[in-house]
Amino acid sequence: MPVTHALVEADVLRRQDPELADVLLGERERQSTTLQLIAAENFTSPAVLAALGSPLANKYAEGYPGSRHHGGCEIVDVAERLAVERARALFGAEHANVQAHSGSSAVLAAYAALLRPGDTVLALGLPHGGHLTHGSPANFSGRWFDFVGYGVDAETGLVDHDQVRTLARTHRPKAIVCGSIAYPRHLDYAFFREVADEVGAYLIADAAHPIGLVAGGVAPSPVPYADIVCATTHKVLRGPRGGMLLCGGELAERVDRAVFPFTQGGAQMHTIAAKAVAFGEAATPAFAAYAHQVVANARTLAAALADEGLIVTTGGTDTHLITADPAPLGVDGRTARGLLAAAGVVLDCCALPHADDRGLRLGTAAVTTQGMGAAEMRLVAGLLASVLRGGTDAARARADVRELTAAFPPYPR
Ligand SMILES: Cc1ncc(COP(=O)(O)O)c(C=O)c1O
Repeated sequence: MPVTHALVEADVLRRQDPELADVLLGERERQSTTLQLIAAENFTSPAVLAALGSPLANKYAEGYPGSRHHGGCEIVDVAERLAVERARALFGAEHANVQAHSGSSAVLAAYAALLRPGDTVLALGLPHGGHLTHGSPANFSGRWFDFVGYGVDAETGLVDHDQVRTLARTHRPKAIVCGSIAYPRHLDYAFFREVADEVGAYLIADAAHPIGLVAGGVAPSPVPYADIVCATTHKVLRGPRGGMLLCGGELAERVDRAVFPFTQGGAQMHTIAAKAVAFGEAATPAFAAYAHQVVANARTLAAALADEGLIVTTGGTDTHLITADPAPLGVDGRTARGLLAAAGVVLDCCALPHADDRGLRLGTAAVTTQGMGAAEMRLVAGLLASVLRGGTDAARARADVRELTAAFPPYPR
């Protein structure tokens, strides 16, 4: 169902607000003619977009199914129950809360459920790949809690387990957070559980990045180990932008109350319906095949980038995500991102374990949804390196990207 097409071309929007219709059209054009290598992005299905653009967007629904503060919730209750049941089944969790508006809201709710202001929390430091909600002074987390940061080894790029254990013993945190915006390997959840138990801390897994791979059976699940798992529903999971929390039955009520009424108001029922659609999709064999291909593509891309001379952090990847230092090609990460943007290759910068300069962060979730495979990954690595070396000018590279993306449209035209 060509929903995007319908959205953009819909007579109703074009007639009423041509200026906005042009924005939607422009963004569709940008997404389909440039390469989306931002590790946190993906293309949701037309069915997910249909739920997002549905009249459920009109409904106010404070509270939870069967216990709302508004009338008329009997139909949207069905959507939320479906989303919760599908999330529980997909991840083998006793309880799921699907109301968190975003990944950050999910983390805020996890802290609200387990901590009090001033508590000590041990999390991956921001310069090592921790998220803003893991103790940034610019974020509520850094203001309200006393964060201690662990790191990754400068040479291997892997989480420094000895440091985690030592810091936990020294600081006796109330919670330990494991999760990152830029870690290309699987985390050892059993290790974090062991350390948390040793010092009497809660374990919060912020699985925003790997949760889609968990759904697809290609990454280990934090659910059996963490007291609370926070996640986003976009990224590899391919749902709408949003958050969710998973936990055991004993924390269910605390988690639900931490989301509503403690940190949020009315649930966004169109997004919750879209989450239900995405969880349904993620339970299919087709999604498992997709998740496996995402990782296969990331491994091929990482190896090809290394062949081109970039320094690939940890020497490769287990996931959808790659971080790499372009310095051997004569450019730093920020310059590289600008050169690549001009060529239509869209990606992010990130911190590097082994250097002060920024590196590049890439992901294969979106290009895999488009149907690209190993051959295209090698092509992308070659193009990227050639742009950074100055071997291909921006106009030539832009034309190459247009040609490649034209063969893999993200949505039916
Ligand atoms: C580890 C981690 N936590 C939390 C978030 C926050 O998600 P959101 O941008 O939906 O608030 C992200 C987003 O990329 C993330 O990677």
